[in-house]
Amino acid sequence: MATALGQTEVYSLLALSLACLGVLANTFQGDGEPLIASIAFSGLAFACCYALVRWLGDAFMRRGFKGKDMCKLKQTEIPETMGAVCAMVYLFTLVIFIPWPFYKDIVAATSGGGNRDVMRELGEVETGRLLHRFPHNKLASYLSAILSLQCIVLLGIGDDLFDIRWRHKLLIPVIAAIPMLIVYFVDFGVTQMVVPTPLRPYLGELFDLGWLYYVYMALLSIFSTNSINIFAGINGIEVAQSLVIALLIVANDVLYLTPFTPYPHPATDSHLFSLYLLLPFIGVSLALLKHNWYPAKVFVGDTYCYFAGMVFAVDGILGHFSKTLILLLLPQGFNFIYSAPQLFHLVPCPRHRLPHFNARTGLLECSRVEFERPLAQPIAEGLKLLHRLRLLDVETNEKGQVLSSSNFTLINLWLVWFGPMREDRLALGLLAFQAGVGLLGLFVRHRMALLIFTADNW
Ligand code: UD1
Ligand code: MG
Repeated sequence: MATALGQTEVYSLLALSLACLGVLANTFQGDGEPLIASIAFSGLAFACCYALVRWLGDAFMRRGFKGKDMCKLKQTEIPETMGAVCAMVYLFTLVIFIPWPFYKDIVAATSGGGNRDVMRELGEVETGRLLHRFPHNKLASYLSAILSLQCIVLLGIGDDLFDIRWRHKLLIPVIAAIPMLIVYFVDFGVTQMVVPTPLRPYLGELFDLGWLYYVYMALLSIFSTNSINIFAGINGIEVAQSLVIALLIVANDVLYLTPFTPYPHPATDSHLFSLYLLLPFIGVSLALLKHNWYPAKVFVGDTYCYFAGMVFAVDGILGHFSKTLILLLLPQGFNFIYSAPQLFHLVPCPRHRLPHFNARTGLLECSRVEFERPLAQPIAEGLKLLHRLRLLDVETNEKGQVLSSSNFTLINLWLVWFGPMREDRLALGLLAFQAGVGLLGLFVRHRMALLIFTADNW
């Protein structure tokens, strides 16, 4: 890989960075304009991540972070775990950004909110600082988000270094979720669910899940991180699916922030919070995608998949829209459930389930798992049923015994449905599917919600 930036790249990145710095310098007028600052920071994060991915590739290879691109004729080794670079730039951006969302409150707390007379009087009796006015709870949310993400990145790098076992991988996100769940408990603590109208006669208007709500949120972090990691294996798909999801969440946030929404809407602040987390994420992911898209120059590693999944979980939980988030993760959910027979070893699961590269045609075909030992009767019948439903490609011998089947992933299923195709077309098809399902999900969320709930909170 060319490790130096080309001249056009240098000038473009410099121009972008200077423009963003200019915007940032101006945000300190008025209330600090945190949203504008966040956009500027995202531009800077893009530029840093773009350059660092390029510069650090060789260093990563030398330390053994490298992988073979298995869907290519020439399986050359390229840098792996570049998601770690992405995550570091992201975390530093969030940390540097801390003063902006709180600028207004910092000014108010340290100067008496422009009411210096009151301030002076109080100052004589008290400490002189009106710190009780400062929204410590919001700062705590923000800091706990950073802490959870830091945890997951550490654990992700550990996984990329040592290839942690699948059953241990599952638990990683639970540990990382603890900081944010504690803050949720102390700060918000709502564990009630609004009950859909048809069920109200039985359950009442609100149903309190109690501690089960915390189990639900921990499971959501397990799901969002791992489901992105197993919806992977072709160039660009990990990063691009995360970008599609992030953009859809941003679209949902913007619905709450348009001038048409009555202000102050109770959800405004949490959706702003969500944007502060997502915009820099989009910045660093775009920079990574530029290098990871077909033909990939770098791999993202499990670090990126965990990191991206955790960004969504933290965002959905602390932003109080976890159910909407689940709608946007439906393709991942399908892939997870569809994978279950292999994940839980009802049928054998090879180390890699990514599609098979046909060297003669240059196209990807679905990869297959061969059953060396005959399958148990009910499982074999189940596979044949899936085959008849066009949900699997099963090969049987003349006696009707199942010999092999396509691997149980959405990526392979796509190839079963639409036939062999080039890697980038496959990725684009799956991304269009992701975007379509997500848009439909948001539509249902805001338009159809009234059919089963009495109010849409928009
Ligand atoms: C998960 C999947 C596995 C899939 C792998 C690919 C499950 C249970 N596990 O495993 O089936 O094969 O992701 O990411 O579903 N690679 C490519 N091209 C790409 C991306 C990755 O060839 O576009 C290969 C490279 O050799 C790379 C390796 O996959 O080094 C990374 O695999 P890794 O992320 O470690 O696999 P898992 O996450 O454990
Ligand atoms: Mg992986």
